[in-house]
Amino acid sequence: MNETFPIICANLKAHKTWDQMSDWLKTVGQASRQFKGTLIVCPSYPYLAAIHQQITKENYQIKLGSQDLSQFEQGAYTGEVAASQIADICSFAIIGHSERRQNFKETANVLSQKVANAQKALIQPIFCIQSSNDPIPQGVQFVAYEPVFAIGTGNPDTPDNVHQVAQTTKTHGQLTVLYGGSVSPENIKSYLAKGLVDGVLVGATNSLDPQKFIAILNSAQS
Ligand code: PGA
Repeated sequence: MNETFPIICANLKAHKTWDQMSDWLKTVGQASRQFKGTLIVCPSYPYLAAIHQQITKENYQIKLGSQDLSQFEQGAYTGEVAASQIADICSFAIIGHSERRQNFKETANVLSQKVANAQKALIQPIFCIQSSNDPIPQGVQFVAYEPVFAIGTGNPDTPDNVHQVAQTTKTHGQLTVLYGGSVSPENIKSYLAKGLVDGVLVGATNSLDPQKFIAILNSAQS
């Protein structure tokens, strides 16, 4: 792993048209040049290739991630996106987000398959857990602790609890642990303070507005 810390990952979920996304990228891309940590952006699938081109052309300091990938390899799976199809443009993939577990009934078996496919394609899975009791598939190096009550609610978990979960999670191996759930410019430092949490995952609450998201980047390094 050669990531610099903190790691800040934007999960844009199923938001933004292409015009809005490309404006967002211009603004955040410029700010990325001043950011000393690792910035990961996870937009919707249709935008990945064009964003990848833009990042290369403009030398934005952004790594690209997908918000999911298929449990299947390439084949007759209409609507799916296989890991090997995005391997050239994505360094990361969020896997097991609670919205996918809930809305798409993703089970531990399915998630293990997705992790294995990502790893085979040399994509780093960012595996989401909702508590320190959730099983983490073999070989995962990046874990995001995202308690459901904190996602999109403006009601983040307490720094003490997040630190405790990070500490417990790290007893399972050499893991990089992110926290996600209502992360804001005001609270980000409280999560990074002890050096137990390596970064954050920022969802729709504070990533969609590029200025709010840049405020998070700035606050993380202030
Ligand atoms: P939020 O979402 O930042 O809007 O709470 C976090 C996430 O879903 O990853």
